[in-house]
Amino acid sequence: MKIFKQAEAMQAWALEQRAQGKRIGFVPTMGFLHEGHVALMRRVRAEVDELVVSIFVNPKQFNVASDLENYPRDEEGDLAHCRNEGVDVVYLPTAEQMYPEPYHTYVEVRGGLAEGLCGATRPGHFLGVTTVVAKLFNLVQPTVAVFGQKDFQQLAIVRRMVQDLNMPIEIIGLPTVREPDGLAMSSRNARLTPENRKRALVIHETLQWTKAQVEKGERDAKTLCAKARERLAAVEHDDIHYVDIREETTLSLLETLGQGHARMFVAQVFGQVRLIDNLRIYTDPRLSNQSRKP
Ligand code: PAJ
Repeated sequence: MKIFKQAEAMQAWALEQRAQGKRIGFVPTMGFLHEGHVALMRRVRAEVDELVVSIFVNPKQFNVASDLENYPRDEEGDLAHCRNEGVDVVYLPTAEQMYPEPYHTYVEVRGGLAEGLCGATRPGHFLGVTTVVAKLFNLVQPTVAVFGQKDFQQLAIVRRMVQDLNMPIEIIGLPTVREPDGLAMSSRNARLTPENRKRALVIHETLQWTKAQVEKGERDAKTLCAKARERLAAVEHDDIHYVDIREETTLSLLETLGQGHARMFVAQVFGQVRLIDNLRIYTDPRLSNQSRKP
């Protein structure tokens, strides 16, 4: 397994592989790798000639300084995961490498996709994400890149960027990998106290409960969100950033379920650890045979 730390070395290697006609698969991450990240690697491993994983805690996508400082890191453990999964190259840049001063250029997806949810509650977050992902795509030259539906809005925004900027890259989105009790896997889970780890289960339970209400016939989004919020609030927590029901492709808010696939999105904070999760709660029967993009 090769490890590149310099942008020039990463890009020179990638261009050489592409010149030889090789297919490069890419999984961008911020490290502290878990089974969710591993699922992304496994999804493309067999389809590509070279598998690249990047590990970079991108300062530009953190809007709260303490969140960046406290973000968990484990380089040795991450490299072991990558070796186990047959990763060919790990790209491990430093922030100075990624954003040499003076740094001026940003990539921004404007409009509806980036306005709600984490776009509203973490100002500047997606500007940081699209900027770093565009840079990583230029450095790694992937044929195909894999993202998780755990960060559903991020996946939708990356798809939009790739389409709008004519990037010749296939984007694959994969379902959320969960702990046995249902909590969505996340690097941030490591920062939960044992008590908050138990409390955080309320997110997945609430998503499942809401889906069951829809199956019983409830179609009014306001009612569903209000009831979901009540359930989330019943457990000790610091904050609820959002509880929304949105149409899956445009991420526009829904009033009534019935037009397009509907997904519930939750962001809740336990002991300064902000967790997000989402679940499709309504499948439009007219669309059920179509692909599950994004
Ligand atoms: P990170 O949070 O490390 O996640 C890297 C990738 O793993 C993302 O595509 C994310 O959606 C996916 N992922 C995380 N938890 C998952 C789970 N439980 N199941 C399935 N997939 C999961 O997302 C980022 O890093 C950054 O924003 C990045 C795209 C690397 C840009 O800096």
